[in-house]
Amino acid sequence: MIAVDGVSKSFGSFVAIEDLSFEVAAGEIVGLLGPNGAGKTTMMRILAGVFPPSRGTVHVAGYDVVKDPLRTRAAVGYFPERVSAYLDMTVSSYLRYVAKMKGFSGSAANSQAVSAMGACGIEAVANRIIGSLSKGFRQRVGIAQALTGEPSVLILDEPTSGLDPEQVADMRDLIRGLGEKRTVILSTHILPEVESTCDRVIILHRGRIVAVDTTGNLSRRIQRAGRIFVEIDAPVEDARQHLSQFAGVSSVESKPRSGDSAASFIVMTEQDRDVRAALASSIVQRGWGLVELRSVAFSLEEIFLTLTQDQEGS
Ligand SMILES: Nc1ncnc2c1ncn2[C@@H]1O[C@H](COP(=O)(O)OP(=O)(O)OP(=O)(O)O)[C@@H](O)[C@H]1O
Ligand SMILES: [Mg+2]
Repeated sequence: MIAVDGVSKSFGSFVAIEDLSFEVAAGEIVGLLGPNGAGKTTMMRILAGVFPPSRGTVHVAGYDVVKDPLRTRAAVGYFPERVSAYLDMTVSSYLRYVAKMKGFSGSAANSQAVSAMGACGIEAVANRIIGSLSKGFRQRVGIAQALTGEPSVLILDEPTSGLDPEQVADMRDLIRGLGEKRTVILSTHILPEVESTCDRVIILHRGRIVAVDTTGNLSRRIQRAGRIFVEIDAPVEDARQHLSQFAGVSSVESKPRSGDSAASFIVMTEQDRDVRAALASSIVQRGWGLVELRSVAFSLEEIFLTLTQDQEGS
């Protein structure tokens, strides 16, 4: 449904994305994950036919986005990063207007607007001025806008950004529902987002693909090594030595002391080993006070670094 082959995009001398190749099958929900400036929006604009790539080819729903921009745009529903919604229009008049821009006339535009509102659960605000809506509802209007014309491909650029947790959950349900009939590619810089919504993930970092994998595989790759914070009421050097020699521990780093006598450490563990219970009981057996012991999650930036190093190593 989407085929991207050797795509690069430069702005002047700045290369925003470089040599991207990937495919998305019909009916898949794929997440583009990457930190700020990774090139997500740039890639999505190319997919939506906003601007052409500097190099490479892109096919969406069978159309070449450069040779056939009009048909591409008709096949694609695009939710841009910054929704430039017409804030002084009502929801329904805006959606009718969008449908007309996409080539529907009169009653057809009206029924497009009605069905898009139905799909996004915004019938109740049909006659409200867009500017008076909450952020979550405005975001839904943006999705409804992308849905008008019943495109087979949806390109959603950070559809949950700026929403509160409840709105995020609603939006995820909405996207999963839309993905039952359509091909969806969405961008985010939040890992749990792709884990809960997407079948597959493409990770971008500095304009390049660092990983393409199923969501399940990716979670496993990321969680393979562990990191534990431990605070022990014991002589620092003794505690450090004990931790370093413990089976399954790969490295130990001292943290600045937090209390009067306790020593704090960051303990890295080997792949797929959960040593927390054994470590806790060994500390207690030595007669030391176990003040705290908890897993420390990896930040997205650290995950990107790991995956980038993985790639360079292979
Ligand atoms: N029109 C433009 N002119 C010049 N540089 C641009 C333009 N659009 C994007 N860039 C640059 O290209 C890089 C990729 O930007 P892009 O917006 O695609 O990143 P992103 O992954 O969407 O980031 P974010 O998470 O912040 O939305 C950035 O360094 C950005 O400054
Ligand atoms: Mg962006």
